Amino acid sequence: MDNFKKIFETTTPIWFMRQAGRYLPEYRKIRVKEKNFLDLCFNPELAAEISLQPISRFNFDFIILFSDILVVPYGLGKKVDFKENIGPILEKTNNFDELKDVDLSASIEKLEPVMRTIKILKNEKKNKQLIGFCGGPFTVLTYMFEGGTSKKHDLIKKKIKAERKDFKLLLNLITEFSIAYLKKQILNGVDIVKIFESWAGLLNKEDYNEFIIEPNRKIQKEIKKKFPEIPMIFFPRESKEKIFEFLEKVKPDVLSLDKEVPNKIFEVAKKKKIILQGNLDPLILIEGGRKLEDEVKKIMLHFSDNDHIFNLSHGILPKTPIDNVKKTLEIVKNFNETR
Ligand code: CP3
Repeated sequence: MDNFKKIFETTTPIWFMRQAGRYLPEYRKIRVKEKNFLDLCFNPELAAEISLQPISRFNFDFIILFSDILVVPYGLGKKVDFKENIGPILEKTNNFDELKDVDLSASIEKLEPVMRTIKILKNEKKNKQLIGFCGGPFTVLTYMFEGGTSKKHDLIKKKIKAERKDFKLLLNLITEFSIAYLKKQILNGVDIVKIFESWAGLLNKEDYNEFIIEPNRKIQKEIKKKFPEIPMIFFPRESKEKIFEFLEKVKPDVLSLDKEVPNKIFEVAKKKKIILQGNLDPLILIEGGRKLEDEVKKIMLHFSDNDHIFNLSHGILPKTPIDNVKKTLEIVKNFNETR
C-alpha cells in the first residue's frame, strides 16, 4: 500500500471506467468477429489484447482487465447473453433454492479463462498496474433478479420486502463467490481490485446498511486479511449522504465518485487518508470543446488537496470522440507537470 500511496506525492494518475470498449475502432473490429460478448470475455488472447488497446492508444496509467461483472451469474450456472442495443439478458434467478446446491469452487473454475487473461497481461503490462474487479453483490443480484438492466427494479424491491431472508441467503452466496473470485484474480496477478456497486443508490438507509455496506465490508475484510498490500477501490454509485457511513464501515483505500457527491467528502477523505477517484461526467466527455476543458481543469483544482485518480463518474459511452479522450489526458498530464 505504501508504494501505491507514493504515486500521489508527485502525480494525478488517470484511467477511465470502461476504457476498453465500443468507442474504440480497434475494439469494434474485434467485436464484429465475435458475436457473443461472453465468448470474447472468455478468450484470453483477445481479452488481453482488448485490455491493452486503450493503453497503446492513450497511455492510461492503469490497465483494467477486460471482462464483465456478469460472468459471476454465468459461473453460477445461469444463462447470460448480451444483445446489441438492449444490453444484458439473463436467465432469471427467483430464489435461493435454485442455487443452494452450487459448488463454489467448481463454479469459479468456470471463470478460469479470466485467470489466463490475467496471466497474459501480467507478462505484458510492463510498468503499469493491472486492475481486477467484480460487481458489488447487490448489483450483481439486481441483474439476476430482473433478468437484465431494469428501470424500476420492481422485482428486487418486492423480493427484499416479501422474502428478506431468502434474499439475504442469495446475497451471502454472491458475496462468498466474489471474495473467492477476487482472491483468485490476485493470486494470478492483478495488482489492484475494484468493486462496482453500480446500483447502491436504489436502497433506503436501513437496506443500504444491510445489503450494501455489510457485503462490501465483508469483501474488504476478507481480501485485506489475506492481501493487505492490495489496494481496493470501491464504487458505491449514487450513495449520496450515505457515503459517509460507507467510508466509516467499509474503509476503502480508494473511493470512486459518481457525479453527485456531498462537498464534505473532500475533507473527510483527506482526514481518513482515502484516495478519491473521479469524476468527469461521460456526457461532457462526449460534448468536448471548451466545456470539457473547463470541466477537467475544474476537477483537477477541486481535488488538488486530495490524493486523486482522475476518472469518469460512470463508464465511457460508445459515442465518445477519441479526440476528447486524448484532450482530457493532455490537460491532466500538463497539470501534473506544472504542479
Ligand atoms: O472498464 C473496462 O474497460 C473493463 C471491462 C468492463 C466491462 N464492463 C466491459 C463491457 C467492466 C469493468 C464492466 C463493468 C460492468 N458491467 C458494470 C459496472 C460498471 C457500470 O457501468 O455501472 C455493469 C453494471 C456491467 C453490466 C453490463 N455489461 C451492462 C449493463 C452492459 C450493457 C451496456 C453496455 O455498456 O453495453 C454490459 C456490456 C459491456 N461490458 C460492454 C463492455 C465493453 C459492451 C458490450 C459490447 O461490446 O457489446
